[in-house]
Amino acid sequence: MNELRLGIIGMGNIGRHHAGYLLDGKVSRCHLTAVCSTSPGKLDTYAARGVRVWSRGSELIRSGTVDAVLIATPHYDHTTLGIEALEAGLHVMVEKPISAHKADAERLLAVAQGRPKQVLAGMFQLRVEPRYQKIRRLLESGELGRLVRVNWINTDWFRTEAYYASGGWRATWKGEGGGVLLNQCLHNLDVLSWMLGQPRRVRGYCGFGRHHQIEVEDEVTACLEYANGATGVFVSSTAEAPGTNRLEIVGSRGRLVLEDGRLRFTRNDGDMLEFLRTAKGGFTKPDVWNVDIPFENAAAPHAQLMENFVAAVLDGAPLIAPGSDGLHSVELANAIVFSALQGREVDLPLDGAAWEARLKELIAGSRLQKTVVAGGTDDFAASFRR
Ligand SMILES: NC(=O)c1ccc[n+]([C@@H]2O[C@H](COP(=O)([O-])OP(=O)(O)OC[C@H]3O[C@@H](n4cnc5c(N)ncnc54)[C@H](O)[C@@H]3O)[C@@H](O)[C@H]2O)c1
Repeated sequence: MNELRLGIIGMGNIGRHHAGYLLDGKVSRCHLTAVCSTSPGKLDTYAARGVRVWSRGSELIRSGTVDAVLIATPHYDHTTLGIEALEAGLHVMVEKPISAHKADAERLLAVAQGRPKQVLAGMFQLRVEPRYQKIRRLLESGELGRLVRVNWINTDWFRTEAYYASGGWRATWKGEGGGVLLNQCLHNLDVLSWMLGQPRRVRGYCGFGRHHQIEVEDEVTACLEYANGATGVFVSSTAEAPGTNRLEIVGSRGRLVLEDGRLRFTRNDGDMLEFLRTAKGGFTKPDVWNVDIPFENAAAPHAQLMENFVAAVLDGAPLIAPGSDGLHSVELANAIVFSALQGREVDLPLDGAAWEARLKELIAGSRLQKTVVAGGTDDFAASFRR
Protein backbone atom coordinates (compact mmCIF):
# COMPACT_ATOMS: atom_id res chain seq x y z
CA MET A 1 0.00 0.00 0.00
CA ASN A 2 1.41 3.41 -1.01
CA GLU A 3 -1.41 5.58 0.20
CA LEU A 4 -3.86 5.25 3.07
CA ARG A 5 -7.57 5.64 2.37
CA LEU A 6 -9.03 7.17 5.51
CA GLY A 7 -12.62 7.59 6.70
CA ILE A 8 -13.78 9.83 9.54
CA ILE A 9 -16.69 8.73 11.72
CA GLY A 10 -18.22 11.66 13.58
CA MET A 11 -18.17 14.99 11.77
CA GLY A 12 -18.70 17.46 14.60
CA ASN A 13 -16.18 20.05 15.78
CA ILE A 14 -13.06 17.92 15.71
CA GLY A 15 -14.11 15.62 12.86
CA ARG A 16 -14.47 18.65 10.58
CA HIS A 17 -11.15 19.99 11.77
CA HIS A 18 -9.43 16.72 10.81
CA ALA A 19 -11.24 16.65 7.46
CA GLY A 20 -10.11 20.23 6.76
CA TYR A 21 -6.37 19.60 6.97
CA LEU A 22 -6.68 16.23 5.24
CA LEU A 23 -8.51 17.76 2.28
CA ASP A 24 -5.93 20.55 2.20
CA GLY A 25 -3.28 17.88 1.63
CA LYS A 26 -1.48 18.54 4.92
CA VAL A 27 -0.87 14.82 5.53
CA SER A 28 1.10 13.13 2.80
CA ARG A 29 0.06 9.71 1.51
CA CYS A 30 -3.35 10.02 3.18
CA HIS A 31 -6.54 10.35 1.17
CA LEU A 32 -9.82 11.22 2.88
CA THR A 33 -12.24 8.95 1.03
CA ALA A 34 -15.26 8.77 3.35
CA VAL A 35 -16.99 10.58 6.18
CA CYS A 36 -19.88 9.61 8.38
CA SER A 37 -22.24 11.51 10.60
CA THR A 38 -25.61 10.88 12.18
CA SER A 39 -26.60 14.12 10.40
CA PRO A 40 -25.33 13.31 6.87
CA GLY A 41 -27.35 16.17 5.38
CA LYS A 42 -24.71 18.53 6.77
CA LEU A 43 -21.96 16.84 4.77
CA ASP A 44 -22.85 17.98 1.23
CA THR A 45 -19.66 20.01 0.90
CA TYR A 46 -17.65 16.82 1.39
CA ALA A 47 -19.72 14.87 -1.12
CA ALA A 48 -19.11 17.70 -3.59
CA ARG A 49 -15.37 17.07 -3.22
CA GLY A 50 -15.73 13.38 -4.04
CA VAL A 51 -15.77 12.09 -0.47
CA ARG A 52 -18.31 9.27 0.12
CA VAL A 53 -20.84 10.14 2.81
CA TRP A 54 -22.41 7.62 5.17
CA SER A 55 -24.95 7.98 7.96
CA ARG A 56 -23.87 4.95 9.99
CA GLY A 57 -20.41 4.06 11.18
CA SER A 58 -20.98 0.39 10.33
CA GLU A 59 -21.72 1.30 6.72
CA LEU A 60 -18.53 3.26 6.36
CA ILE A 61 -16.50 0.53 8.06
CA ARG A 62 -17.82 -2.14 5.70
CA SER A 63 -17.92 0.04 2.57
CA GLY A 64 -14.57 -1.09 1.16
CA THR A 65 -13.68 2.58 0.61
CA VAL A 66 -11.27 2.87 3.56
CA ASP A 67 -8.16 1.17 4.97
CA ALA A 68 -8.36 3.10 8.23
CA VAL A 69 -10.82 5.12 10.27
CA LEU A 70 -10.54 8.07 12.56
CA ILE A 71 -13.24 7.85 15.23
CA ALA A 72 -14.37 11.32 16.31
CA THR A 73 -17.76 10.60 17.86
CA PRO A 74 -18.73 11.16 21.52
CA HIS A 75 -16.67 8.97 23.86
CA TYR A 76 -18.79 5.85 24.40
CA ASP A 77 -18.85 5.06 20.68
CA HIS A 78 -15.06 5.04 20.57
CA THR A 79 -15.10 1.53 22.03
CA THR A 80 -17.91 0.02 19.97
CA LEU A 81 -16.86 1.59 16.67
CA GLY A 82 -13.18 0.94 17.41
CA ILE A 83 -13.84 -2.75 18.00
CA GLU A 84 -16.03 -2.99 14.93
CA ALA A 85 -13.40 -1.33 12.74
CA LEU A 86 -10.59 -3.53 14.08
CA GLU A 87 -12.68 -6.65 13.54
CA ALA A 88 -13.29 -5.51 9.96
CA GLY A 89 -9.50 -5.46 9.45
CA LEU A 90 -9.08 -1.66 9.49
CA HIS A 91 -6.42 0.45 11.16
CA VAL A 92 -7.84 2.82 13.76
CA MET A 93 -7.00 6.25 15.05
CA VAL A 94 -9.33 7.01 17.93
CA GLU A 95 -9.99 10.43 19.39
CA LYS A 96 -9.29 11.01 23.04
CA PRO A 97 -10.32 9.54 25.42
CA ILE A 98 -9.83 6.14 23.79
CA SER A 99 -12.95 5.05 25.72
CA ALA A 100 -15.33 6.58 28.24
CA HIS A 101 -14.01 4.44 31.09
CA LYS A 102 -11.20 2.02 31.86
CA ALA A 103 -13.14 -1.24 31.44
CA ASP A 104 -14.23 -0.16 27.96
CA ALA A 105 -10.66 0.86 27.12
CA GLU A 106 -9.49 -2.61 28.11
CA ARG A 107 -12.12 -4.17 25.84
CA LEU A 108 -10.88 -2.10 22.92
CA LEU A 109 -7.23 -2.86 23.65
CA ALA A 110 -7.89 -6.58 24.01
CA VAL A 111 -9.26 -6.69 20.46
CA ALA A 112 -6.28 -4.65 19.19
CA GLN A 113 -3.85 -6.97 20.93
CA GLY A 114 -5.28 -9.93 19.06
CA ARG A 115 -4.63 -8.12 15.76
CA PRO A 116 -0.98 -7.04 15.93
CA LYS A 117 -0.76 -6.28 12.20
CA GLN A 118 -3.32 -3.50 12.55
CA VAL A 119 -2.45 -0.12 14.04
CA LEU A 120 -4.44 1.39 16.89
CA ALA A 121 -3.43 4.93 17.82
CA GLY A 122 -4.86 7.67 20.04
CA MET A 123 -5.23 11.32 19.07
CA PHE A 124 -3.06 12.80 21.84
CA GLN A 125 -1.60 15.67 19.90
CA LEU A 126 0.11 17.37 22.85
CA ARG A 127 2.76 14.67 22.49
CA VAL A 128 4.10 16.34 19.36
CA GLU A 129 4.55 19.67 21.13
CA PRO A 130 8.29 20.34 21.47
CA ARG A 131 7.94 21.68 25.03
CA TYR A 132 6.64 18.36 26.34
CA GLN A 133 9.09 16.38 24.23
CA LYS A 134 11.93 18.40 25.74
CA ILE A 135 10.70 17.89 29.31
CA ARG A 136 10.38 14.19 28.67
CA ARG A 137 13.91 14.06 27.28
CA LEU A 138 15.26 15.80 30.40
CA LEU A 139 13.46 13.31 32.62
CA GLU A 140 14.52 10.27 30.63
CA SER A 141 18.15 11.34 30.40
CA GLY A 142 18.31 11.65 34.19
CA GLU A 143 19.20 15.33 33.89
CA LEU A 144 16.48 16.26 36.40
CA GLY A 145 17.53 13.51 38.79
CA ARG A 146 15.09 11.61 40.90
CA LEU A 147 11.45 12.81 40.85
CA VAL A 148 10.58 14.63 44.07
CA ARG A 149 7.39 16.57 43.32
CA VAL A 150 5.10 17.59 40.49
CA ASN A 151 2.46 20.32 40.53
CA TRP A 152 0.27 21.13 37.57
CA ILE A 153 -2.23 23.92 37.91
CA ASN A 154 -4.18 23.41 34.72
CA THR A 155 -7.22 25.61 35.07
CA ASP A 156 -7.28 27.43 31.74
CA TRP A 157 -10.09 25.31 30.35
CA PHE A 158 -12.84 27.87 30.86
CA ARG A 159 -16.19 26.76 29.42
CA THR A 160 -19.53 28.57 29.46
CA GLU A 161 -23.04 27.18 29.94
CA ALA A 162 -23.51 27.74 26.18
CA TYR A 163 -20.69 25.28 25.53
CA TYR A 164 -22.27 22.60 27.71
CA ALA A 165 -25.70 23.22 26.16
CA SER A 166 -24.29 22.70 22.65
CA GLY A 167 -24.50 18.91 22.76
CA GLY A 168 -26.87 16.51 24.54
CA TRP A 169 -23.98 14.17 25.34
CA ARG A 170 -21.76 16.79 26.90
CA ALA A 171 -21.02 16.74 30.62
CA THR A 172 -23.40 13.87 31.38
CA TRP A 173 -22.55 10.50 32.92
CA LYS A 174 -24.52 8.78 30.19
CA GLY A 175 -23.13 10.70 27.23
CA GLU A 176 -19.57 11.35 28.30
CA GLY A 177 -18.78 9.41 31.48
CA GLY A 178 -17.03 12.34 33.15
CA GLY A 179 -16.27 16.04 32.98
CA VAL A 180 -13.21 18.24 32.82
CA LEU A 181 -10.85 15.32 33.53
CA LEU A 182 -12.18 13.08 30.80
CA ASN A 183 -12.77 15.77 28.22
CA GLN A 184 -10.79 19.01 28.49
CA CYS A 185 -7.65 18.23 30.48
CA LEU A 186 -7.38 14.59 29.45
CA HIS A 187 -4.57 15.70 27.14
CA ASN A 188 -2.67 17.00 30.14
CA LEU A 189 -3.25 13.76 32.06
CA ASP A 190 -1.90 11.91 29.03
CA VAL A 191 1.24 14.06 28.96
CA LEU A 192 1.66 13.75 32.72
CA SER A 193 1.57 9.98 32.57
CA TRP A 194 3.73 9.93 29.42
CA MET A 195 6.39 11.96 31.22
CA LEU A 196 6.27 10.51 34.73
CA GLY A 197 4.42 7.20 34.53
CA GLN A 198 1.30 6.43 36.54
CA PRO A 199 1.09 7.31 40.23
CA ARG A 200 0.46 4.40 42.55
CA ARG A 201 -2.34 6.17 44.44
CA VAL A 202 -4.64 9.17 43.96
CA ARG A 203 -6.98 11.20 46.14
CA GLY A 204 -9.44 13.38 44.27
CA TYR A 205 -11.52 16.33 45.44
CA CYS A 206 -14.08 17.29 42.82
CA GLY A 207 -16.87 19.78 42.48
CA PHE A 208 -19.68 18.10 40.51
CA GLY A 209 -21.61 20.78 38.64
CA ARG A 210 -20.26 23.23 41.18
CA HIS A 211 -20.36 26.19 38.78
CA HIS A 212 -22.30 24.91 35.77
CA GLN A 213 -25.68 23.25 35.27
CA ILE A 214 -24.01 19.87 34.74
CA GLU A 215 -23.75 16.65 36.73
CA VAL A 216 -20.08 15.77 36.18
CA GLU A 217 -16.95 17.38 37.62
CA ASP A 218 -16.12 20.95 36.61
CA GLU A 219 -13.51 21.54 39.32
CA VAL A 220 -10.78 19.19 40.51
CA THR A 221 -7.87 19.02 42.91
CA ALA A 222 -6.08 15.68 42.94
CA CYS A 223 -3.21 14.50 45.13
CA LEU A 224 -0.94 11.96 43.50
CA GLU A 225 1.58 9.62 45.07
CA TYR A 226 4.28 7.93 42.98
CA ALA A 227 6.03 4.64 43.59
CA ASN A 228 9.25 6.31 44.76
CA GLY A 229 7.35 8.42 47.30
CA ALA A 230 7.26 11.55 45.13
CA THR A 231 4.03 13.50 45.43
CA GLY A 232 1.99 15.56 43.02
CA VAL A 233 -0.96 17.88 42.84
CA PHE A 234 -3.06 18.26 39.71
CA VAL A 235 -5.66 21.03 39.61
CA SER A 236 -8.16 21.68 36.86
CA SER A 237 -11.36 23.60 36.25
CA THR A 238 -13.69 24.77 33.51
CA ALA A 239 -14.90 27.63 35.69
CA GLU A 240 -11.78 29.65 36.29
CA ALA A 241 -10.87 32.77 34.34
CA PRO A 242 -8.28 33.91 33.52
CA GLY A 243 -7.06 30.45 34.50
CA THR A 244 -3.53 29.21 35.04
CA ASN A 245 -1.37 26.72 33.22
CA ARG A 246 1.73 26.14 35.31
CA LEU A 247 3.62 22.87 35.36
CA GLU A 248 6.36 22.51 37.93
CA ILE A 249 8.47 19.38 38.18
CA VAL A 250 11.07 19.11 40.90
CA GLY A 251 13.79 16.52 40.65
CA SER A 252 16.80 16.04 42.87
CA ARG A 253 18.94 17.84 40.28
CA GLY A 254 16.73 20.85 39.68
CA ARG A 255 13.35 22.35 38.90
CA LEU A 256 11.47 22.74 35.65
CA VAL A 257 8.74 25.33 35.27
CA LEU A 258 6.57 25.62 32.18
CA GLU A 259 4.37 28.69 32.24
CA ASP A 260 3.42 31.63 30.01
CA GLY A 261 5.20 30.23 26.96
CA ARG A 262 8.52 29.74 28.78
CA LEU A 263 10.28 26.62 29.91
CA ARG A 264 12.82 27.31 32.64
CA PHE A 265 15.21 24.79 34.12
CA THR A 266 16.90 25.79 37.36
CA ARG A 267 19.65 23.25 37.48
CA ASN A 268 21.26 22.30 40.77
CA ASP A 269 25.00 21.95 40.74
CA GLY A 270 24.83 18.31 41.79
CA ASP A 271 22.10 16.29 43.45
CA MET A 272 20.34 18.23 46.23
CA LEU A 273 19.53 15.08 48.21
CA GLU A 274 23.18 14.11 48.16
CA PHE A 275 24.07 17.71 49.08
CA LEU A 276 21.76 17.78 52.10
CA ARG A 277 23.38 14.62 53.42
CA THR A 278 26.96 15.77 52.99
CA ALA A 279 27.06 19.60 53.37
CA LYS A 280 28.87 20.91 56.45
CA GLY A 281 26.88 24.17 56.86
CA GLY A 282 23.30 24.09 58.10
CA PHE A 283 21.79 26.74 55.81
CA THR A 284 23.85 26.28 52.68
CA LYS A 285 22.19 25.29 49.34
CA PRO A 286 23.50 23.88 46.08
CA ASP A 287 24.60 26.43 43.48
CA VAL A 288 22.20 26.76 40.56
CA TRP A 289 22.39 27.49 36.85
CA ASN A 290 19.40 29.08 35.16
CA VAL A 291 18.63 27.60 31.76
CA ASP A 292 15.92 29.00 29.48
CA ILE A 293 14.89 26.18 27.18
CA PRO A 294 13.60 27.53 23.88
CA PHE A 295 10.72 25.84 22.06
CA GLU A 296 8.39 26.45 19.15
CA ASN A 297 4.75 25.43 19.17
CA ALA A 298 3.82 22.67 16.74
CA ALA A 299 2.23 24.33 13.71
CA ALA A 300 -0.50 21.73 13.14
CA PRO A 301 -0.31 19.15 15.93
CA HIS A 302 -3.30 17.04 14.86
CA ALA A 303 -1.95 16.77 11.30
CA GLN A 304 1.49 15.90 12.62
CA LEU A 305 0.14 13.06 14.74
CA MET A 306 -1.91 11.86 11.79
CA GLU A 307 1.23 11.87 9.64
CA ASN A 308 2.82 9.56 12.23
CA PHE A 309 -0.24 7.27 12.13
CA VAL A 310 0.05 7.03 8.34
CA ALA A 311 3.78 6.27 8.63
CA ALA A 312 3.01 3.57 11.22
CA VAL A 313 0.57 1.88 8.84
CA LEU A 314 2.56 2.28 5.62
CA ASP A 315 6.14 2.01 6.87
CA GLY A 316 5.88 0.36 10.29
CA ALA A 317 7.12 3.56 12.00
CA PRO A 318 6.77 3.61 15.80
CA LEU A 319 3.66 5.39 17.04
CA ILE A 320 4.02 8.58 19.04
CA ALA A 321 0.72 7.85 20.79
CA PRO A 322 -0.05 4.12 20.70
CA GLY A 323 -3.66 3.26 21.51
CA SER A 324 -2.48 1.23 24.52
CA ASP A 325 -1.08 4.41 26.11
CA GLY A 326 -4.59 5.83 26.00
CA LEU A 327 -5.48 3.58 28.91
CA HIS A 328 -3.40 5.69 31.30
CA SER A 329 -5.22 9.00 30.97
CA VAL A 330 -8.67 7.43 31.12
CA GLU A 331 -7.59 5.46 34.19
CA LEU A 332 -6.31 8.60 35.91
CA ALA A 333 -9.48 10.55 35.09
CA ASN A 334 -11.69 7.70 36.36
CA ALA A 335 -9.64 7.10 39.50
CA ILE A 336 -9.68 10.75 40.57
CA VAL A 337 -13.46 11.00 40.20
CA PHE A 338 -13.99 7.62 41.87
CA SER A 339 -11.82 8.73 44.78
CA ALA A 340 -13.77 11.98 45.18
CA LEU A 341 -17.10 10.15 45.13
CA GLN A 342 -15.93 7.67 47.75
CA GLY A 343 -14.09 10.24 49.86
CA ARG A 344 -10.95 8.16 50.05
CA GLU A 345 -7.72 7.31 48.25
CA VAL A 346 -7.80 4.97 45.29
CA ASP A 347 -4.89 2.67 44.46
CA LEU A 348 -3.76 2.20 40.87
CA PRO A 349 -4.18 0.11 38.81
CA LEU A 350 -7.82 1.11 39.17
CA ASP A 351 -10.40 -1.64 39.40
CA GLY A 352 -12.08 -0.83 36.09
CA ALA A 353 -15.09 -3.06 36.76
CA ALA A 354 -15.78 -1.32 40.09
CA TRP A 355 -15.72 2.11 38.42
CA GLU A 356 -17.91 0.87 35.57
CA ALA A 357 -20.47 -0.40 38.12
CA ARG A 358 -20.42 2.97 39.93
CA LEU A 359 -20.74 4.82 36.64
CA LYS A 360 -23.82 2.77 35.78
CA GLU A 361 -25.35 3.78 39.12
CA LEU A 362 -24.63 7.43 38.36
CA ILE A 363 -26.27 7.07 34.96
CA ALA A 364 -29.31 5.34 36.46
CA GLY A 365 -29.62 7.99 39.17
CA SER A 366 -29.23 10.97 36.84
CA ARG A 367 -31.95 13.62 37.21
CA LEU A 368 -30.39 16.14 34.85
CA GLN A 369 -32.78 17.59 32.26
CA LYS A 370 -30.71 18.92 29.42
CA THR A 371 -31.83 21.42 26.82
CA VAL A 372 -29.64 21.46 23.75
CA VAL A 373 -29.05 24.87 22.20
CA ALA A 374 -27.22 25.14 18.87
CA GLY A 375 -24.06 27.24 18.77
CA GLY A 376 -21.73 27.47 21.72
CA THR A 377 -18.83 25.86 19.91
CA ASP A 378 -18.61 28.20 16.91
CA ASP A 379 -15.20 29.35 18.10
CA PHE A 380 -14.02 25.76 18.48
CA ALA A 381 -10.50 26.29 17.12
CA ALA A 382 -9.85 28.60 20.07
CA SER A 383 -10.20 25.59 22.34
CA PHE A 384 -6.85 24.06 21.40
CA ARG A 385 -4.56 24.70 24.28
CA ARG A 386 -0.86 25.26 23.82
N1 LIG B 1 -7.98 15.89 20.06
C1 LIG B 1 -8.63 17.04 20.22
O1 LIG B 1 -8.04 18.12 20.18
C2 LIG B 1 -10.12 17.02 20.42
C3 LIG B 1 -10.82 18.23 20.41
C4 LIG B 1 -12.22 18.18 20.54
C5 LIG B 1 -12.87 16.96 20.72
N2 LIG B 1 -12.15 15.81 20.78
C6 LIG B 1 -12.84 14.52 20.98
O2 LIG B 1 -13.57 14.21 19.80
C7 LIG B 1 -14.82 13.61 20.11
C8 LIG B 1 -15.96 14.44 19.48
O3 LIG B 1 -15.94 15.74 20.03
P1 LIG B 1 -16.64 16.97 19.25
O4 LIG B 1 -16.36 18.17 20.05
O5 LIG B 1 -16.26 16.97 17.82
O6 LIG B 1 -18.18 16.57 19.42
P2 LIG B 1 -19.43 17.07 18.55
O7 LIG B 1 -20.63 16.88 19.37
O8 LIG B 1 -19.14 18.43 17.98
O9 LIG B 1 -19.44 16.06 17.31
C9 LIG B 1 -19.73 14.71 17.43
C10 LIG B 1 -20.26 14.25 16.07
O10 LIG B 1 -20.39 12.83 16.07
C11 LIG B 1 -21.59 12.50 15.39
N3 LIG B 1 -21.96 11.18 15.89
C12 LIG B 1 -22.42 10.86 17.13
N4 LIG B 1 -22.56 9.51 17.23
C13 LIG B 1 -22.19 9.00 16.04
C14 LIG B 1 -22.14 7.68 15.53
N5 LIG B 1 -22.46 6.61 16.26
N6 LIG B 1 -21.72 7.52 14.25
C15 LIG B 1 -21.37 8.56 13.48
N7 LIG B 1 -21.40 9.84 13.93
C16 LIG B 1 -21.82 10.04 15.19
C17 LIG B 1 -22.57 13.60 15.72
O11 LIG B 1 -23.55 13.71 14.72
C18 LIG B 1 -21.64 14.82 15.73
O12 LIG B 1 -21.57 15.41 14.46
C19 LIG B 1 -14.90 13.54 21.63
O13 LIG B 1 -14.53 12.26 22.05
C20 LIG B 1 -13.87 14.57 22.08
O14 LIG B 1 -13.28 14.23 23.33
C21 LIG B 1 -10.80 15.82 20.61
